[in-house]
Amino acid sequence: MSENVLRIENLTMQFGGVVSVNGLSMEVNKGEFVALIGPNGAGKTTAFNCVTGVYQPTNGRIEFMGETIVRNHPQGRMARQYMGERATLYTSAYRGEDDPEALEAIEREGDGERRAQLRAQFDAEARERLESAKRRDPDALTNRVIAPTPDRITQLGIARTFQNIRLFSSLSVFDNVLIAKHMRARQNVFSATLRLNRREERRMREETMALLEEQDLARFKDEVAGSLPYGLQRRLEIARALATEPRLLLLDEPAAGMNPQETQELGEFIVKIKEKYELTVFMIEHHMDLVMQFCDRIYVIDFGKLICEGSPEAVRADRRVIDAYLGVVE
Ligand SMILES: Nc1ncnc2c1ncn2[C@@H]1O[C@H](COP(=O)(O)OP(=O)(O)O)[C@@H](O)[C@H]1O
Ligand SMILES: [Mg+2]
Repeated sequence: MSENVLRIENLTMQFGGVVSVNGLSMEVNKGEFVALIGPNGAGKTTAFNCVTGVYQPTNGRIEFMGETIVRNHPQGRMARQYMGERATLYTSAYRGEDDPEALEAIEREGDGERRAQLRAQFDAEARERLESAKRRDPDALTNRVIAPTPDRITQLGIARTFQNIRLFSSLSVFDNVLIAKHMRARQNVFSATLRLNRREERRMREETMALLEEQDLARFKDEVAGSLPYGLQRRLEIARALATEPRLLLLDEPAAGMNPQETQELGEFIVKIKEKYELTVFMIEHHMDLVMQFCDRIYVIDFGKLICEGSPEAVRADRRVIDAYLGVVE
C-alpha cells in the first residue's frame, strides 16, 4: 500500500451559517502530484487553510505522515448551529451513529418485526463505524482538539503558496527567502535560543542563493520583492516555500494570471522540483491543461463536497464534473 503523506478526514469548515467545506475526505500519497479543482467558491482555499493552521476547522481530522496534526469538533455555539455531518465523531459522545435521518426513518417503519430488523442492522453498522474510528484515530472517543499555528505546520514540513501572493513586499528578494530558511531552522532549540553560528548562517545564505538561481531570480536578489513583475513574484513565492525544506508542497493556483506558454513551463518546473526535492505536491488549479497533463490524480469539489476523484482521464469523462465545472469554466 502506498504511504499517505496527507490524509484529510471528514473536514468541515462552517462560517456562521455557511458551510464552506462539508465532510471532505481525501488523501495524498508519498511522491504524488495531486490536484484539487472545483468552481470558484467551492471551498478549495478554505481546505488548504485548514491544513496549514490558518483556520481551525469546525470538524474533522488531518494527518500528516501518519500523525494527527489537526483535530476538532463543533463546540460552544457552533455545536448548536452546526449544519455538517458527524458532529460527534471527534468527541467522547461518538457511538457510531452517523445518520440520524436513517434512524428516524427506521423508527417510522410501521411493521414492528421489520423495524426491529432494520434497527439491529443499523446498530451493527454503527458498531462497525465506531470500531473503525478507534482503529484510525488514536484520540478516538476523546474531545481532544489539535490546532497548530501556521508556523508549527511549516516546521512539521508543509509549505504553501497563496492564491493572492504573500511576500514581504518591502524586503529584498534575497531576504524573503532567507527569512523562510530561518523559520525552518527555528525548530532547532539551539538556533532558537542562541544566535546562529557563523557557519550555519553562511550555509543558509548559500542555500538561499542556490534557490534563487534555480528560479532564475539570482539577478534580482537585491530588488525589493514588491517591485518584481507578477510572474517573478510567483516564482519567488515558490522559492520561499522550498526554503522551509517541506515534504509536502501546497500550491494555491500557481498559474493564475499566466499565459499558456508560462503555464506549460510552470508545470514542467513543478515536476522538476518535485523530483529534485522528493516532494509530494497538492495543487489547486484552474488551468485544466496543466492539471490534466501533469497531475497523477484529481479531486473535484463543489459546494465544499467531494464530487469525483480519479485519474485525469476518469475525471475528464465524469458527468458530474462536466456539469458542475468543465462545462461552465472552459
Ligand atoms: N473567513 C471567511 N469567512 C466567511 N466565509 C468565508 C471565509 N473564507 C472563505 N469563506 C467562504 O467559503 C467559501 C469558499 O471559499 P474558498 O475556499 O475561497 O473557495 P475557492 O478557493 O474554492 O474558490 C466561499 O463562499 C467564501 O465566501
Ligand atoms: Mg481559492
